[in-house]
Amino acid sequence: MDVLRTVDELRHWSRKLRARGKTVGLVPTMGALHPGHASLFRAAAACCDSVVVSIFVNPTQFGPNEDFDRYPRAFDADSALAASEGADVIFAPAVVEIYPPGNATIVEVEGLSSRLDGASRPGHFRGVATVVAKLLIGAEADRAFFGQKDAAQVAVIRRMVTDLRIPTEIVVCPIVREPDGLALSSRNIYLSATEREQALVLCRTVRKIEELVASGERSARVVIDAARRSFAATPEVHIDYIELVDWTTLVPVSTAQPGTLFAIAAWVGKTRLIDNAILG
Ligand code: PAJ
Repeated sequence: MDVLRTVDELRHWSRKLRARGKTVGLVPTMGALHPGHASLFRAAAACCDSVVVSIFVNPTQFGPNEDFDRYPRAFDADSALAASEGADVIFAPAVVEIYPPGNATIVEVEGLSSRLDGASRPGHFRGVATVVAKLLIGAEADRAFFGQKDAAQVAVIRRMVTDLRIPTEIVVCPIVREPDGLALSSRNIYLSATEREQALVLCRTVRKIEELVASGERSARVVIDAARRSFAATPEVHIDYIELVDWTTLVPVSTAQPGTLFAIAAWVGKTRLIDNAILG
């Protein structure tokens, strides 16, 4: 598996392929790859001729007291998984390649960046938008693939791509779960066995709310109350937010509509987990 280290190498790789009429897919990741990431690689390989997976633990999207230093890094296992699931090349830049000396440019998607995860992780979406802009500009891909798992991130990136007229199609792939329903996350490895069990309250609640809305309930107040009650049975897990929002603007809605985003973030011990559903 070829590993590209500079943005120039990435751009050169992509331009060469596209000049030959090939389509290029980009899958941005921070590594510690799992089957949720692999589903994006497969989706990319299914509709693009060539796929680049970026692996970059982006320092600017972590807060000062967050887990940047201990974020799992497993480059060899990651490249093996990426290769076996459809990646043609890996882009793994050093921090200084993405943030050169004197770097002074940030991408701020106003409004959306301070909602949901952005409310409890100030600066997080600024870091995400900035690095994803750099990756999209560098890769010149036809399509870029993101998981619905990070639904607020998807909304921020879609807004940015529209506003900056970045000519890359954003493709969103479904949430991949463990057999018991827990959404796969690189952070699940932080959970003890007890916490792993407690964490199931997130997906149980998402499922209950999907059923409640499918049965005809539309009131956001009723839906959110029901979700909070569902968490009450697992008091060890602390809710960060439970919200029903418009998936484009991330603004809370009072009535669930088809396409409304139901989103949860909660602390399981020291680990913050998220889950969501797009309501039918
Ligand atoms: P990371 O957490 O590594 O996730 C990379 C991509 O994999 C994201 O689009 C995320 O939504 C998707 N993903 C993670 N878990 C998933 C699951 N269980 N099912 C489906 N897709 C899943 O998200 C990031 O990295 C970063 O913020 C990044 C976009 C790379 C910018 O640094």
